[in-house]
Amino acid sequence: MTNKKFYVTTPIYYPNDIPHIGHAYTTIAADIITRWHKIKGKEVFFLTGTDENAKKVFLAAEKKGKDTKKFVDELAEDFKDAWKKLNVDYDRFFRTTDKDHVKEVVNILNKTHKKGDIYKGVYEGYYCVGCEAYYTEKDLENGYCPIHKTKTELMKEESYFFKLSKFQKKLLELYEKNPEFISPKSKRHEIINRVKEGLRDLSISRKDYGWGIKIPFDKSHVVYVWYDALTNYYTATRKKGKEKFWPTDVHLVGKDILWFHAVIWPAMLMSAGIKIPKKIFAHGWWTFNKEKISKSRGKVINIDELISIAGVDSARYFLFRATPFGDDGDFSEKTLIDRHNNELADKLGNLVSRVSTLVEKYDVEKTENKLLKKLNLKKIEKLFKNYEFDKVLNEIFSFIDICNEYIQNKKPWETKDKKILYELKESILKISELLWPFIPETSEKITKQFNAKKIKKGEILFKKI
Ligand code: MSP
Repeated sequence: MTNKKFYVTTPIYYPNDIPHIGHAYTTIAADIITRWHKIKGKEVFFLTGTDENAKKVFLAAEKKGKDTKKFVDELAEDFKDAWKKLNVDYDRFFRTTDKDHVKEVVNILNKTHKKGDIYKGVYEGYYCVGCEAYYTEKDLENGYCPIHKTKTELMKEESYFFKLSKFQKKLLELYEKNPEFISPKSKRHEIINRVKEGLRDLSISRKDYGWGIKIPFDKSHVVYVWYDALTNYYTATRKKGKEKFWPTDVHLVGKDILWFHAVIWPAMLMSAGIKIPKKIFAHGWWTFNKEKISKSRGKVINIDELISIAGVDSARYFLFRATPFGDDGDFSEKTLIDRHNNELADKLGNLVSRVSTLVEKYDVEKTENKLLKKLNLKKIEKLFKNYEFDKVLNEIFSFIDICNEYIQNKKPWETKDKKILYELKESILKISELLWPFIPETSEKITKQFNAKKIKKGEILFKKI
């Protein structure tokens, strides 16, 4: 194997409230990718964490009357708990208040400053605290943020600027030379067109309001939270033993924050003379019963709610089975339960239960596995490489259908044919391996059951709801 290491990241989440399904989506995706590469024998570095030096975080703490650091300490634990409950096995939980991070942000700012890519000016325009982003009047909808639909802040303030405009040509070259740098394709064109329209320099500091990393060459300013946050991906690889993971193989992000990752982040790195990540993949957004997920309107699914519907594995399965990873999807309890009943219980659960019962009774006898040849592994590999998770699962479940039909046709309960049972047993083990990234808990149960010296009918894997 040529490349034995793999580095995957999720965005670092604002700890201004507890995690919900949107955060879980990217984080489980990163877990799936991690497990997949582990099966392939790679050494994987999976990074997630919290983006703490944000104004919205500061304001949320203030609203609760809490000390900001104490507030983020508590919420960071909530995120860690959530990932534990969802069986997400990350390597580092990154917090932008971590010491090594502050040091690295300062380091990159100094490098960029020395290059002459930072200058002092006045920022005049709009700011949405929800997005932690700057807007011009024409971006807004009647003065309101196009994403949050909330009133934006009109600002006029001394600020340091990063010469983003200088990198237009270089960025376009990067996209041209690396057609997969921005994925999926549809999103790539959007970004390229916007970059072609021209880039404005980016305000990267605010007058110190009591929270955030100080600008090293002017302590009366704090670093703009996105400049700070993006750096996390690099900081994490400055630790001993982790250097080899840079550049990132894939940054997973939601479509709303693609611009920051595909435009601002590579420009920051170009200026600081650091290698550029290999891929930014933008996934779609979940709505809830066709409505935008919104806390204020009570349309939000937190992690406990998500798990309580049909268990962890069914939730993980549903999120990646129902909708292509790059598209928007609609979440409803009913559709999750339908998939749980019709696919996990009726197809997978049934196959495992029938075969284990028969093997317990009649045993197996080694033979050439013709059944397994019907599984198109090459196709699955290719689909996975493009993060077409829904199609990967479709392929695996088509094979599960084939296995169920095979039992129906071969009737091993009548023939007591141990060779047929061997083929089925081995096929189930392969299915279980392929499903491990998606439904790890169930997969581990199946693998243990079918690798045992004496295979026995086990407990029901998915109880129907
Ligand atoms: N802190 C920044 C990221 C900095 S990365 C250097 C941030 N945080 S966030 O907490 O607001 O959101 C993080 C992610 O959650 C984004 O990728 C966003 O797309 C995702 N989601 C939030 N709501 C979502 C849905 N309803 N559906 C799918 N993903 C969504 O942005």
